[in-house]
Amino acid sequence: EKGGWSSFMAKEVSEEPEAVANTLRGRIRDGEVVIPELDGLDELFTGISRIIVIACGTAAYAGQVGKYAIEQWTRIPVDVELAHEFRYRDPVIGPDTLVVSISQSGETMDTLMAVKYARERGAKTLSVCNTQGATIPRESDAIVYTHAGPEVAVASTKAFVAQITALYLMGLHIGRVRGAVSAAVAAEHVRELEAVPAKIQRILDNEQPRIEQFAHWMADTRSVLFLGRHVGYPIALEGALKLKELAYIHAEGFAAGELKHGPIALIEPGQPVFVVVPSPRQSAEMHKKVISSIEEIRARGARVIAIAEEGDAAVLPKADEVLRIPLAGPFFEPLLAVVPLHIFAMGLATAKGLDVDQPRNLAKSVTVE
Ligand code: F6R
Repeated sequence: EKGGWSSFMAKEVSEEPEAVANTLRGRIRDGEVVIPELDGLDELFTGISRIIVIACGTAAYAGQVGKYAIEQWTRIPVDVELAHEFRYRDPVIGPDTLVVSISQSGETMDTLMAVKYARERGAKTLSVCNTQGATIPRESDAIVYTHAGPEVAVASTKAFVAQITALYLMGLHIGRVRGAVSAAVAAEHVRELEAVPAKIQRILDNEQPRIEQFAHWMADTRSVLFLGRHVGYPIALEGALKLKELAYIHAEGFAAGELKHGPIALIEPGQPVFVVVPSPRQSAEMHKKVISSIEEIRARGARVIAIAEEGDAAVLPKADEVLRIPLAGPFFEPLLAVVPLHIFAMGLATAKGLDVDQPRNLAKSVTVE
């Protein structure tokens, strides 16, 4: 079943382009998002004034990425919450709230209980799920399936990019139904989405061997930090989670802006830090700020591995290593920037001789609370 791959995870990372392409398939017509599963639900989408995304782990990071674009395209405020926290704090929700759950398995007990709780409180529920007929979609008012295909490795990789893709489709659909985004603007985003699979493929083709080489050199590393800003922030969190989970290395993700509020104290000579650099074309200001974060940590001896778009020359003299991702429109970089981090975590675990498909203490589907 693994084909020629050394692990299911290696196979699944190689399938990230297809996971996005298959999630888009049949859902775009003449530049418009068409989601047959959401037919007849326009009233639900025009009647809401809040969206709360609930999920656990990697799925919650997909939600955090999705928040930026969904808010922009729908002009509805979006909050993202861990499913197990949501239920225990008497949240203020009602019929005008859309609770969007994200789950690869569709069986995660924490997420399921939060969906049930939201329904009991009168909220509308929409499930983003990778498993046809699973419990969470069955308990929801609406479903948008991700079509990443079966994910066997315990750690989630291809499902993550499919989840972001599905959230973007959902966001564009709701934005169009509510008239919050024009057909022309939506069509531009659709074009960006359609270009993502080939761009991910380019990263796999161009950067995978180099990243695996770094991972090999870093096999004795005891701690790795990840920094990002805006949509790059949840990508930093995802990079850290994968490294903990697969390689059993202490790893933390931070918002780059938080550095001076504490985490910079962790920087000592030789500390490896991955930095997700935002596109200078989209925000010169954010780009400049992240470059100056790199300067600050490098001045303290950190070893910086930057993930930056092709052609961003400013980052080259600042970082020790630069991993390149193709140019993408606003909101679409995270779908690319996460790929080197998945490769890195897998490469480091492999270099340590660990079983990347079955990390210790973890189960693929967490059906207990
Ligand atoms: C991390 C990982 C987990 C899952 C989480 C939710 O690599 O796989 O954090 O993302 O347990 O699982 P699902 O998506 O099945 O609800």
